[in-house]
Amino acid sequence: MLTFENDTVASPSPVPVTEPESSEHKANTGATGLEDIEMGASRVQVDDKRIINCRADLNQLVPFKYQWAWQKYLQGCANHWMPNEINMTADVALWKDPNGLTEDERTVVKRCLGFFSTADSLVANNLVLGVYRHITNPECRQYLLRQAFEEALHTHAYQYAIESLGMDESELFNMYREVPSVATKASWALQFTKNLNHPDFVTGTPENDQKLLRDLIAFYVIFEGIFFYVGFVQIFAMGRRNKMTGTAEQFQYIMRDESMHMNFGIDVINQIKIENPELWSDAFQEEVIGMIKKGVELECQYAIDTMPRGILGLNAAMFKDYLEFIANRRFAQIGLPEQYPGATNPFPWMSEMMDLNKEKNFFETRVTEYQTGGALSWD
Ligand SMILES: [Fe+2]
Ligand SMILES: [Fe+2]
Repeated sequence: MLTFENDTVASPSPVPVTEPESSEHKANTGATGLEDIEMGASRVQVDDKRIINCRADLNQLVPFKYQWAWQKYLQGCANHWMPNEINMTADVALWKDPNGLTEDERTVVKRCLGFFSTADSLVANNLVLGVYRHITNPECRQYLLRQAFEEALHTHAYQYAIESLGMDESELFNMYREVPSVATKASWALQFTKNLNHPDFVTGTPENDQKLLRDLIAFYVIFEGIFFYVGFVQIFAMGRRNKMTGTAEQFQYIMRDESMHMNFGIDVINQIKIENPELWSDAFQEEVIGMIKKGVELECQYAIDTMPRGILGLNAAMFKDYLEFIANRRFAQIGLPEQYPGATNPFPWMSEMMDLNKEKNFFETRVTEYQTGGALSWD
């Protein structure tokens, strides 16, 4: 229980919560928004809230300013699932059957699990150690905490699949340091985390605010919005052929979560643009276009490296088309012009993978409705 030595309510004093933003103010008020409890401070008003460089108390969730963030938090909780609820028996039998999968198909499964097993840790670490501290809004932070847990569940899912299939865990978890096509994407993303992780990094200058924005675009739009999609398509293509259906179902839940992460990130990015229009300069827009194009290039290369020959009805040319198609959507979502005119979607069935509430599940596996916990005993 929190007690205060002097429990009298002080008269309202000029406190940081309502102090107007000053351009000379280099640092924000600190990670919590209030480093000390100040009795009688003015109550937080909706208009005090900002996504970055907010000077209001960050410990007060309400009043909500960004309803979309709270709604996504609720939706994330409603979508709760656990990796070990999914039956992997058929996958284990197929994987252990010497004639179950071709060598090319085995490579795809291993590369996918290898890439994802560490990718979600990179995302989680960026979120918790880099981004969280600089997003100065409690409803957004509430979602970030939910997202961080979901990233832990995803890493759990990959570990569970790797263990169930009896794969060489060390080989899979080291792939991002040993297999160039997997390493390239991870190291491209890490350069953006580095800036934010520095203990002295604070937002509050245009230069540093752009660094944060750059990291958000790198992770939400490119890493979670482009780098995951070759892997998703490959695993779903197997599921559609009744191969690795448990793994495919895990990936289905993961993609639903990831799609929400990306949409949240895009809302955050767009809100930062609205509140800080000076950050979205022509030069910065050009830079972001270049970043997304680079992301498409790296993901195309990943498709070629993991799938040098066409299999499962997929080939590298289709992936190029697909990645350009989804990149066009990413450009539009953050208010940039589409860069790949005429790109079409060769995998229209991908949108069905997102919808887990359908009566008939695509893989004909049972969609478990999540039940919260077991019964609590109070005696
Ligand atoms: Fe994830
Ligand atoms: Fe994610």
